[in-house]
Formats: sequence, C-alpha cells, structure tokens
Amino acid sequence: MWKSKWVRRLAWAVTDLMILGAALAIYFRDAVEPFVEQNSATFKLVGLAIAPFLAVLGFVWGALDKIEIKELAEELGQERERAEKATKSLSEAQSSISAKTEQIKSLESNLETIADSQRLWRLGPPRPFPEYEGWKLNPHGARIVSVGLFKGGVGKTHLTANFAAYISEKLKKKVLLIDLDYQGSLSTIMFTAAGIEPTESKVDSLLAADADLATLSRNSIQLVGNSDLTILNGGKGLSRAWIVPADYSLSALEGQLLVSAVMKGPSVVDERYRLARVLLHPDVRNQYAMILIDTPPRMSLGTVNALIASHAYVVPTILDRVSSEAIGPFLSQIQSFKSDLKLEGPELAGIVGSMTKQMPLTGKEPDYRKRILATATEQLKTDMVRTGRPLMLDQNIPRKAAITNKDDLGYFLDDGHGQLLRDLFYDKVFDDLWSRIVESTPNH
Ligand SMILES: Nc1ncnc2c1ncn2[C@@H]1O[C@H](COP(=O)(O)OP(=O)(O)OP(=O)(O)O)[C@@H](O)[C@H]1O
Ligand SMILES: [Mg+2]
Repeated sequence: MWKSKWVRRLAWAVTDLMILGAALAIYFRDAVEPFVEQNSATFKLVGLAIAPFLAVLGFVWGALDKIEIKELAEELGQERERAEKATKSLSEAQSSISAKTEQIKSLESNLETIADSQRLWRLGPPRPFPEYEGWKLNPHGARIVSVGLFKGGVGKTHLTANFAAYISEKLKKKVLLIDLDYQGSLSTIMFTAAGIEPTESKVDSLLAADADLATLSRNSIQLVGNSDLTILNGGKGLSRAWIVPADYSLSALEGQLLVSAVMKGPSVVDERYRLARVLLHPDVRNQYAMILIDTPPRMSLGTVNALIASHAYVVPTILDRVSSEAIGPFLSQIQSFKSDLKLEGPELAGIVGSMTKQMPLTGKEPDYRKRILATATEQLKTDMVRTGRPLMLDQNIPRKAAITNKDDLGYFLDDGHGQLLRDLFYDKVFDDLWSRIVESTPNH
C-alpha cells in the first residue's frame, strides 16, 4: 500500500511539472519561441516521448489502482475476520452471562424454597432414579405409609407406634418403622417399651446416596428386648417389628443435604428420592407386610423423602379448632407436592380422630369432625378415599389416662376397668386403616 502511494505521488509530481512547464511556455511564448526554434529537434523528440510516457503512466496508474484495491480488499477481509471473531466472543460472553444469570436465579429460588419450607420439595426439577415408578407401582411387598400433619401433638407418633403393635401382634405380620422426626419420639417410645438401649443406628444412614439393603439391615433394630426391662407386650416385645431410629443428628444432616443441593447443584442421587431408593427396593418391600413412617409436624427434607417413598398417608387429628384448621393447608400442600413432582401417590388412606374426649364424641367434637370432613372434601374434590370409603374413619382414638401414664404402648393396656384398649378401639381403627391401605394397592 505504502509503495503505490509513493509511486502515485511521484507520477502526480511529474504530471504537475509537465503541466506547469507547458503553462509557463505558453505564458512566456515570446521568450520561449526562439529557444524552441533553436532546439526544435529536441522538442520534437520530447513531444514524441510524452505520448508513450503518458500511456506508460496511465498503465502504471491502473496497475497501481488494482494493487491498491487488492490490498484494500485484503485489509477489509482481515477487518471483517476480526469483527467476526469479536462478535463471536461477544455472543459467547453473552451466553455465559445468561447461563450465570440462570444459575443465580435458580440459586435464589432454591434459597427461597429452603427459607419458605412450605414448598421444600421444589428444589429444582425432580430427578427420580430410573426404577422409581416401576418399584412404586409394583403391587407386591410392603405398602409404605407416612403418618403426618403439620401440627404438633395430634397423635402421629402414637398412631404409628400402636399401628405397628397391631400389625406385629394381631396380624402377625412383619412391620418396619422409620422415625423421620429428629426429636426421635417414636424411637424413644419403642426403645423404652422394648427395654432396648438407644444405639448408634440411625435413619441418617438411609439418606446417604449409596444407601441400600445392607445399610437398612445394619440400621434397623428388632423390637424384642432380651432383658427383664422389656415391658412391651407382656415382656415379649414386638417380635415382628423393626425400627430405624432418629435423633438430633438428623436435623443437621437435613440441613447439610439442603445446603449442598443448593450450593453444589444437584447430586447424582436426588436428595428427595434417597429414602424411596432404599425402601421401595423389591428386596426390602418383600421382607415386610408394611413400612410405617413417622414424620415431624413440618415439611422437612425427611418429610419430602417420606412422602415420595409412600403409597399412602394417614392423618391423625384432634377434633378441635387449631388442629382442624391445619387439615386444609396440609392436604393442599400434599396436592401441590404431588402435582409439582408429577407423582401418582401417596393417596390419603384416611383421617383419624385422635385424643377425643370420650366415645362417642362430646361437646364441639362432632362440629369439628364435620368441618374437617368438609375441608378435606373441598381440598380433595371427593368425600371418599380411593377404596370408596369415607375420608374420615368412623372410629376415633380416645384420650386415655392409662396411655399417658405408662411406658408400654396403649395397644397392650387396659382401661383400668379390665377392658383392653385394643378391643375397645385400636383394633377397629387399625382393621379399617389396614384394609384401606391394602385395598388401595394397584391390581388389588
Ligand atoms: N389417645 C391418647 N391418649 C392419651 N394420650 C395420648 C393419646 N395419643 C397421644 N397421646 C399423648 O399426646 C402427646 C402427643 O402425642 P404424639 O407424640 O403422638 O403427637 P405427635 O403428633 O406425634 O406430636 P409431634 O408433632 O410433636 O411429633 C404424647 O405425650 C402422647 O403420649
Ligand atoms: Mg411425633
């Protein structure tokens, strides 16, 4: 480029000089004419040379133009390449910025989900393990049942413990209890009644990504005391019942799993499907007739795991204002939970009146029972559970002084007048619950 510039300048200079010379010759014609006549031969020669010179100049000029255009085109091409590269890296930067923005948004939404534990299951899209649905829909083996309501002290643990006694001692079938409340009330009740010292075994182990049948075997404890301390069932314990106990370490583990799910992103085994991965395994379900899970009065990660693993859920409630008001929000949360995670189950097996003042109901209890039924019917858009039975069981579990004062399970106690509580009401409640749960099995 620079070369053609200088050649062009030189050509301009020569041309300018020639024009200037011609102009001067015309202007000073009188002075110049004698000189021209004297050197006419030389001027003729110069005149003859000018035409080829101008032709050569025109040719060189054209060639220079071509070179210049070529050089310009090359430069333009390089510029374009540079511009394309810059555009590409800009769009890469833009897409990495929008990916980062997405990450931040999902982090924010996950943090909000944790903060507002009402929707704790919404930790990103569900990532069930491949066999989840097949195992859950398998009609063989234990039905898995969660007992829950997000209201403390309504008798969840009481119902779970006594239902296990009924399955083990009346039905003579094997039952596995899972304690998912870090307060460990179920574990304490069962250990105390069975005369067993609390052990290192913990439900925490079932929430590990690699938990399997062996983990469950190591961490479940059979509820038969072999010492004089055994109170349960007149010293016989519950020979067909096992428990995986909980203690306060569960709360720390739940916190760690949630934080890691949010900060490190999803792990290989979805934190919400860990319990299901162990309990729904056909080898586990085939060992028991039923698996009962006691849940805490809130939507913890343990509760999310319990509900995902469960085929059915049971809701005990006191027939008073506070507890009846908790039913609507609880059922609605379970509905959103199921639709968000696209789950078929768990199905409501029934609502059980708990700690009623007497049998039959007294005072305002019948009113609250009606209100609970109306709320549940509105939430579930039906007044029947899947087996065609009313949403609420006819038989309630009355409050009995004998239950609160003894270490044994209510199921084995009498009412102080020689009548066994199991005959008075427990067996009626549990016969109904058992058949509701078993009859709701697909293909039953
Ligand atoms: N039918 C009953 N008669 C007498 N006392 C009962 C009865 N049912 C439960 N209780 C007592 O009421 C208290 C609360 O019961 P329970 O622990 O079963 O409720 P919960 O719903 O599991 O509570 P939390 O939400 O705190 O886990 C316990 O002390 C229990 O012994
Ligand atoms: Mg409890």
